[in-house]
Amino acid sequence: MEDLRHEYGASLDEGLISTTAPLALLRTWVDEAVAAGVADPNAMCLATIGRDGTPRSRMVLCKGIEEDAVLFYTNMTSDKATHLLARPEASTTFWWPDAERSVRVVGHATPLDRDEVERYFATRPRSSQVGAWVSDQSSPIADRASLEAKHVEVQARFASGEVPCPPQWGGFRLHVREVEYWAGRPARLHDRVRLRAEASGWSMERLQP
Ligand SMILES: Cc1cc2nc3c(=O)[nH]c(=O)nc-3n(C[C@H](O)[C@H](O)[C@H](O)COP(=O)(O)O)c2cc1C
Repeated sequence: MEDLRHEYGASLDEGLISTTAPLALLRTWVDEAVAAGVADPNAMCLATIGRDGTPRSRMVLCKGIEEDAVLFYTNMTSDKATHLLARPEASTTFWWPDAERSVRVVGHATPLDRDEVERYFATRPRSSQVGAWVSDQSSPIADRASLEAKHVEVQARFASGEVPCPPQWGGFRLHVREVEYWAGRPARLHDRVRLRAEASGWSMERLQP
């Protein structure tokens, strides 16, 4: 792996970053990844901290970008949700390799209201809705066959009619305190621009790569 390397050639126009709308460029970059046909253009790596102080990260899909928050959905008894309910501080990073762009968002997470969770759940494909009932996310299970058996049982239970939103299904709004935009450039002299929420508004500074 030592010989694996890539020469970057992107750049970041600071003029596109707004100190009144810190996530506006994130939305633009996601939109551009969608237009470019990138697989999972809204995927982000979410890091949380467990009760014992151990950090854990995993991929989730960003399902909304608001003026100063990003949204995602998950099982509220999962490890990530358990972490966030006890310690709401989180960091999440997007990465689009072809565009040589990355964005890190840091902030604190609050659970989504039940009505917004149910509204989103109703838009999901039926197979995903059923899957949400099947999985006690992050809990151990004896083997794959046991999971498949649960799937068969849940499919039979919801053979007709709408699939209701499971009580343990939910999501979080990550309220942004800091955003960093990154673009790869030659000679590892990448562009990094960080926005931070201050009492007076959003500050912006360039960081060394
Ligand atoms: C591209 C990608 C997108 C994912 N999106 C989600 C998601 O939106 N919500 C979710 O709960 N898990 C999602 N997962 C699964 C998580 O990465 C993870 O395995 C799961 O949520 C359990 O994490 P935890 O045990 O740390 O809570 C996704 C995985 C990948 C690879």
